[in-house]
Amino acid sequence: MRRPARRGGPTQRPRPEVTGPDVPSLPSWERPPSDVAAAVRAIKSAIRARIEASGRSIDEIFGVVADLVSVRAGEIRAANGAAGTAWPVLDYADIAAGTVSAESYSLLRRRGCLVVRGHFDREQALNWDRQIVDYVDSNDFFETYRGPGDDFFGTVGSKPEIYPIYWSHAQMQARQSERMANVQTFLNSLWHHTAEGTEWFEPDRNVLYPDRIRRRPEGATSKGLGAHIDAGTFDLWMKAEYQQAFRHVFDGSIEQFDPWSAAHRTSGSQYPSTTMTSVFRTFQGWTALSDMDHDQGVLQAIPIPEAIAYLLLRPLLGDVADDDMCGMIPGQVFPVTERWHAPLLEALSGIPDIGAGDSVWWHGDMPHAVAPVTDQKGWGNVMYIPAAPWCPRNEDYAAAALAALTSGASPSDFPDEHYEQSWPNRFQIDELNHYGRQSLGLD
Ligand SMILES: [Fe+2]
Repeated sequence: MRRPARRGGPTQRPRPEVTGPDVPSLPSWERPPSDVAAAVRAIKSAIRARIEASGRSIDEIFGVVADLVSVRAGEIRAANGAAGTAWPVLDYADIAAGTVSAESYSLLRRRGCLVVRGHFDREQALNWDRQIVDYVDSNDFFETYRGPGDDFFGTVGSKPEIYPIYWSHAQMQARQSERMANVQTFLNSLWHHTAEGTEWFEPDRNVLYPDRIRRRPEGATSKGLGAHIDAGTFDLWMKAEYQQAFRHVFDGSIEQFDPWSAAHRTSGSQYPSTTMTSVFRTFQGWTALSDMDHDQGVLQAIPIPEAIAYLLLRPLLGDVADDDMCGMIPGQVFPVTERWHAPLLEALSGIPDIGAGDSVWWHGDMPHAVAPVTDQKGWGNVMYIPAAPWCPRNEDYAAAALAALTSGASPSDFPDEHYEQSWPNRFQIDELNHYGRQSLGLD
């Protein structure tokens, strides 16, 4: 089985043909274009020509996706009304025992998101939360906090709700636990990791992706975060590897688009933006360190894995200016808005009540938001831990993560804050277990 080559490595795999004799080719920009408006005009015109060369119109192709979204949104609204949530919910015990039913798998693929009940023992999660408080207190974090290091979560409020803390024992214990590995591997297996004679990632080996902590205090009032995706921005149309990954969206064969195919999906890097990540994530996720009621400013998602096709095709319709990608701004997050994406937003679904130790997961391309809250009841505390399977792109990042762990630095995907470098009680490399060593490329 071939593996995808590292970017630019000596064993660069020959790029498959993107064009046939009658298929218009797409221009690509491997770095952010200097003239964004001109590039948007060029790529939109080229994709339109490509779709039309298939004998179908843009409106027809978009209509296929819009019809699917309409059906799913109806189904999701009904599920939210009847069962209280459209989010699939599984017990960790069933994932660990391999007793998840075929019906559950099928619903998971249809919704692309999941709540895992009892992923960790409740007491374990509450203890981790206390340990994090002790860790930051013992290092005078609140006295030395310099304010938000980026302009994305920084919009949430001026107090640190997002802690730029990566190397506490609590976080590392969760990241390198067997329970985390079991859930990540289960989630990776929902993807088709092998296609076109290439194994695009290894589903049963994960990269340790150090991310931050959110601790939102009781009584907090927050405007939340608008709906967006984290998978990319202009790059999703403009880079050759994404054009391959989304080829069925861009060439008129929309019925063949499979949001679970990893083909070419693991190898494209992103243009810089506030939610830019260096790794490929099958699922984004977090683990709850406190109880959170469903109406307390929690995560919402649009549980339609095919929504990405809607987002990619929408700017090609005739009501969007030629140089506009439905309001996207260079360097900022990919927005999902009422103005351009109202039918998608009808499916926006909040998570159910969550207990400490539960975890929440959503497909890496899925639109999501955080609901506003006034005078929050209880704390809202989470550790962000995604599922990032082993592939050349993620292996490269594992080396960077290992270097950051060694020095206590903020990882390279995050602002240069480096609070923990001088903290003596941060997690050390000799405390890594088998899973930790494997996920950082040491074993
Ligand atoms: Fe996000």
